Amino acid sequence: MNMDDLKLSCHELSLPVTEKCNPISRDIDRVNGKQMVQILRRCDAEIFEKKDHDPFHQRLYSSAVIQTMVDVAKRVEMMLRDPEESVIVLSGCGTSGRIAFLLVTSFNEMMKAQKQKQICSYIIAGGDRAMLTSQEAPEDDPALGAHTLEKICAGKKHVLFIGISCGMSAPFVAGQLDFCLQHLDIFTPVLLGFNPVHMARSEPMQGCSFHFKDVAERMTAEQRHEKAFVLNPVLGAEAISGSSRMKGGSATKIILESILLAGHEAAFRGKRTTPECISGWITASEMVYETTYSHSDELAALIHQAGESLRMKAHVYYIGWGTLGIIGLTDASECVPTYGADFDDIRGFINNGFREMKNKEGDLSCLGPEFVIGHKDFVDTILPSLSQNDMVLFLFAVNDDLHEVTALADQVRRRTSNLHAIAHDLEKFTIPETVCNMFGTILRITWPFSSEEVNSVVMRQRWELSTKWCLNAISTGAHVLKGKVYMNYMIDLRVSNSKLYTRAINILQRFTGCSKSECVRALLRAIYSTEDLSEDMTSADVWKHTDAANRRDRVVPTALVMIQCGCTLTEARHHLDCHPVIRDAVNACFNSSKTKSTVD
Ligand code: F6P
Repeated sequence: MNMDDLKLSCHELSLPVTEKCNPISRDIDRVNGKQMVQILRRCDAEIFEKKDHDPFHQRLYSSAVIQTMVDVAKRVEMMLRDPEESVIVLSGCGTSGRIAFLLVTSFNEMMKAQKQKQICSYIIAGGDRAMLTSQEAPEDDPALGAHTLEKICAGKKHVLFIGISCGMSAPFVAGQLDFCLQHLDIFTPVLLGFNPVHMARSEPMQGCSFHFKDVAERMTAEQRHEKAFVLNPVLGAEAISGSSRMKGGSATKIILESILLAGHEAAFRGKRTTPECISGWITASEMVYETTYSHSDELAALIHQAGESLRMKAHVYYIGWGTLGIIGLTDASECVPTYGADFDDIRGFINNGFREMKNKEGDLSCLGPEFVIGHKDFVDTILPSLSQNDMVLFLFAVNDDLHEVTALADQVRRRTSNLHAIAHDLEKFTIPETVCNMFGTILRITWPFSSEEVNSVVMRQRWELSTKWCLNAISTGAHVLKGKVYMNYMIDLRVSNSKLYTRAINILQRFTGCSKSECVRALLRAIYSTEDLSEDMTSADVWKHTDAANRRDRVVPTALVMIQCGCTLTEARHHLDCHPVIRDAVNACFNSSKTKSTVD
């Protein structure tokens, strides 16, 4: 191993698991749709990996993790038995907050249907608008997190608080956990994340004397007295480095659904929560994983199709029903911060718009075009100008209104044949062939459950998870095919909060092999758009940098080219202008610097 490789592996070792580069997907930017599906399949398999004797990390099936899930499910049961005085709060930022919203909504719906009090509540950093757009700055504010939590728990005697931060890094969540730790007479805090505690983030947080890792360690100490719980199985690195919407989001859904449902069964059906029943729920999710990826040909065809649309600067529209519509909206909105996409590159729509979402703040459609989400809006605003290059993907299940599905598909077909579907049905209750035949590619999964399960929340949750895996593969694959990804790094990330600032520096170190201080300087030159950094700029805190970076495009690629080619800001920008595809720009820059160093 030469010196550069050694430096590289030391740098990689220093990163938390959730920020590492996954060796499985290292070449994802150079493969076709079919191979991409296999790569994603192998990355997702790591969620369920059983490494019984892994001395370093606990996994989802590890007995300690399952036991903590049992303990938390028992707290859920206690809360459900005392609904007047209790509340269960799920909170997170970005995808973690969106999953919190989805879980709370479906759990509350189930409670309502059974005439029980709805005691679950969600918090998403930045409020409901963060469900459809990326609101990165509130994620950095611990005081805001604590204040929001305090407000929704006012007057309650028992609060089970579940703070989700996949990377164990979000200050918003750290502030909430710290608040709970100060009020353990009322609050039982749970931290859900996917790094070992010693890898939790230890950088300073705005206006705080402690950092995330301090909080995680205090939580671990309280766990010994069953006053707090840390649930942190390791899932392996993400397929696109740091993109916790993928495995992190899926595992959050799997773990919290199991806990909530186990608690519910114990409270209302007298079914004691045991490690066996928790691992049974996880195995059921593993079966969903296997069934979904067994449709790899259709999935590859959909990735290819979506990639073609994006490459032609056309659009992908997800038209979903019920919670499958929410999965579509979530996946689409995540493409903006993850791939620097425009909000209308991939867009989601749901039947009945906000009425179907049932979010706390109600109809947000007046906030702007990103918030226009109903099928009717699709028909009124998109359909008239839909072209053959635009891909339309329906997301529905056998118990959705198939007349509505057929009528809308008919309308779309009059404008384009680029119409496809992901559809779920049951062996004893299938979608009629006449409906299936309306779609070019239909990824139809016929689940081996009885027809009595058709209206059950559990069935729907499995369909949601399956659809999430498919859409994550489609939107990731399409952006990779568009050339947005270099190796398995999303290089052109928006540096809009402190976590992303640190990630940007890591990426620069990873690719240039330069020291941290050299990478910071190049990044700041790109952020402040100057060759001469002033003292004010270099000494400003990270929140000032992210505020400035949020208003600028291509900061990381610009810094990368400046370092790699030893050129000025203007030259770096010119280089990027000549190569609009990020992967080509980076390749060209590495090639030219190789030639230069050979000549030197
Ligand atoms: O700030 C961006 C982001 O990385 C989102 O993409 C992500 O969903 C969110 O932060 C939350 O991350 P975590 O769950 O690790 O706190």
